[in-house]
Amino acid sequence: MRTIITGGTVVNATGRAHADVVVDGEVITAVTAPGLITEADRRIDATGKYVIPGGIDAHTHMEMPFGGTFSHDTFATGTEAAAWGGTTTIIDFAVQARGTSLLSTLDKWHAKADGNCAVDYGFHMIISEVDDGSLKEMRPCIDAGVNSFKMFMAYPGVFYSTDGDILRAMRRATETGSMIMMHAENGIAIDQLVAQALAEGRTAPVEHGLTRPPELEGEATSRAIALAGVTGAPLYIVHLSARHALEAVAAARNTGQNVFAETCPQYLYLSIEDMAKPGFEGAKYVASPPLRTRDHQADLWRGLRTNDLSVVSTDHCPFCFADQKVLGKDDFSKIPNGMPGVEHRMDLLHQGVVAGEITLERWVEISSTTPARMFGLAGRKGTIAPGADADVVVYDPAATQTISALTHHMNVDYSAYEGMEITGRVEVVLSRGSVVIADGAFHGKPGHGRFLKRDLSQYLL
Ligand code: URP
Ligand code: ZN
Ligand code: ZN
Repeated sequence: MRTIITGGTVVNATGRAHADVVVDGEVITAVTAPGLITEADRRIDATGKYVIPGGIDAHTHMEMPFGGTFSHDTFATGTEAAAWGGTTTIIDFAVQARGTSLLSTLDKWHAKADGNCAVDYGFHMIISEVDDGSLKEMRPCIDAGVNSFKMFMAYPGVFYSTDGDILRAMRRATETGSMIMMHAENGIAIDQLVAQALAEGRTAPVEHGLTRPPELEGEATSRAIALAGVTGAPLYIVHLSARHALEAVAAARNTGQNVFAETCPQYLYLSIEDMAKPGFEGAKYVASPPLRTRDHQADLWRGLRTNDLSVVSTDHCPFCFADQKVLGKDDFSKIPNGMPGVEHRMDLLHQGVVAGEITLERWVEISSTTPARMFGLAGRKGTIAPGADADVVVYDPAATQTISALTHHMNVDYSAYEGMEITGRVEVVLSRGSVVIADGAFHGKPGHGRFLKRDLSQYLL
């Protein structure tokens, strides 16, 4: 089966060109001068459109257990929503429950995902309990294609690791060349602020933000960097939201340390003002780290330009407003943490192109090419080039749309971006050569998406 995508502007991280893209089976086989190859089983007209590599969302949580409930997208619904938004790979998190092993956790997550995903997927592993067993199991996880391990400096009693635990896991990461991903917030201090707020009767959603100040993200980020420096471990700071943390990352990178960071669209577009909306509305925006004051946003955009922030992921972790967020109606600390977003990352970042914050090429780089290289998928994903998987998005930069829960495909009853006008729209999506989105309809199927065994990060210095 040969498909030719004709007449578009092919945009890679390295540049753009008017070119046709030839797909044979599941793979891109040529990027040619327009009209050079004419024989094909299927032609997709991309005149006036961008032809970009499918997005890679390196931070999602489908069916994640959290706060006594589960994030509401399954691997089936979440990956279909991803496809609608031009994301053709997700990397989700397998979550070690205390008292269980990493390998049994991995089996559990395979059972959730295998046969259900509409697009390709990989896993990171969350280490909730550092002991001899889990440290030993890092090796078989890596051999199974899971070579990035998330740890938490937040959530004491749940996912939290002590500095000693982190140091031990980092030593193993150094030995194995794997990546430690860090949720960098000082959870011990935050819990004191939360207890104080509740004791004073401050229970509204905005208190979630006020009790997790940016200084405590900056402090934890600096501490994680110091621990990584001592051990030589590669470190990737997830969901960075605050200038304080960005400054720590930039300083470490200036010394040549293997420190990387991602931010998320919610930190670029939303703010603590959203959490202060009347009534319980602010619960829709409760995630950790919390939304910050607006002045952080310009710093984050600058970080994306300077590459101190090298990836944008969503941290997609949707909880329905009506029957899940409401668990924290009288106590903000019981609101399940997380926000939906997997469907809108490419569109939201395209607004950065429209506004002149980033170039077209940088849009592709932070949403696809760098995540591929960061997480061991280079060559296969993140580029429009011969030999790469035919994960291709035809994007119409002139179309307009309005984000709404009434029209989105995520399995959640609200949108954090309700009513936001977007310039640009995903028109066609190919996942490994198969059309999954076209003519305003989903043509994929659960089970098309394959598990990606990932190689080591290609960014280590
Ligand atoms: O609030 C968030 N971010 N929920 C998802 C879990 C995590 O910490 O990434
Ligand atoms: Zn986290
Ligand atoms: Zn997360």
